[in-house]
Amino acid sequence: MDEKILEFFTALLERLSGISYTTGKEYLIESRLNELALSLGYKDINELYQSIVKKGVDSKLLNEIIDALTTNETYFFRDYHPFEALRTHVFPELFKKREVEKRINIWSAACSTGQEPYSIAMLLLEHFPRFLQTYKITILATDISQKCLEKAEKGVYNQIEINRGLPVTYLIKYFKQDGAHWYIDEKVKKLVKFQRLNLLESSMRLSEKFDLILCRYVLIYFSEEIKKKVLIDLWKLLNPGGYLLLGATEVPTVTFSDMEKKLIGKTIFYRKKD
Ligand SMILES: C[S@@+](CC[C@H](N)C(=O)[O-])C[C@H]1O[C@@H](n2cnc3c(N)ncnc32)[C@H](O)[C@@H]1O
Repeated sequence: MDEKILEFFTALLERLSGISYTTGKEYLIESRLNELALSLGYKDINELYQSIVKKGVDSKLLNEIIDALTTNETYFFRDYHPFEALRTHVFPELFKKREVEKRINIWSAACSTGQEPYSIAMLLLEHFPRFLQTYKITILATDISQKCLEKAEKGVYNQIEINRGLPVTYLIKYFKQDGAHWYIDEKVKKLVKFQRLNLLESSMRLSEKFDLILCRYVLIYFSEEIKKKVLIDLWKLLNPGGYLLLGATEVPTVTFSDMEKKLIGKTIFYRKKD
């Protein structure tokens, strides 16, 4: 692909989403954009670029570019041990801490196609049903990709997606099969609220604060500067006593005086001191 076209799309993506494509990933951009260009009726990426230069780019096309260039890899109960730590330690502690207000806010930031927030919802249904009756528990699930959110909201998964990470007991209890599709139960669905949100704008767009924030496997795509900005915003949105969970390979590149690192089982959480 022409250097100028590559630069145009990588700069556009970074400005819109914070995602910075590193050198060596040109093939990925090229193949993803070529696929998008073909699906929009262009001969190739070159033709799509020429059309943008001539006519500009509307919000629908911007969304399609974001959808095409984001990596949406996810699966149910990803890494498993964080969910064990949530079950054995974090949720019991949060329920105790909030026994007066009886309110817990959870945020799955960058939720992709919904497996992460639905895993949390199933965990609560399975292990904390009493608290679902007596507490107001919200699970907000956000992502920048409209396409991912549409799939997440439907809650319909194929056999490959179901086979990844989902314990069979959960499959039997919380899914219904229809041919090649698995439909997540309404009682799981109704616990999760999906919303489009760019992590670069979260501090402006969200007014509530959270007791648990999951922001996993997305910071890895950001430059150091953006990563820092996003972490500062996430930290502001965390309640005292609340927990931040990152991906297993991710470490915060900025620390705060009220941040404590807690190893629970095999999982590192970042807790905001009370
Ligand atoms: C690899 S997936 C991780 C999904 C899930 N958190 C997990 O760990 O399984 C990364 C997600 O981040 C989303 N994303 C990328 N940049 C974003 C941004 N600026 N704001 C919100 N979501 C973003 C992508 O659309 C994608 O769905």
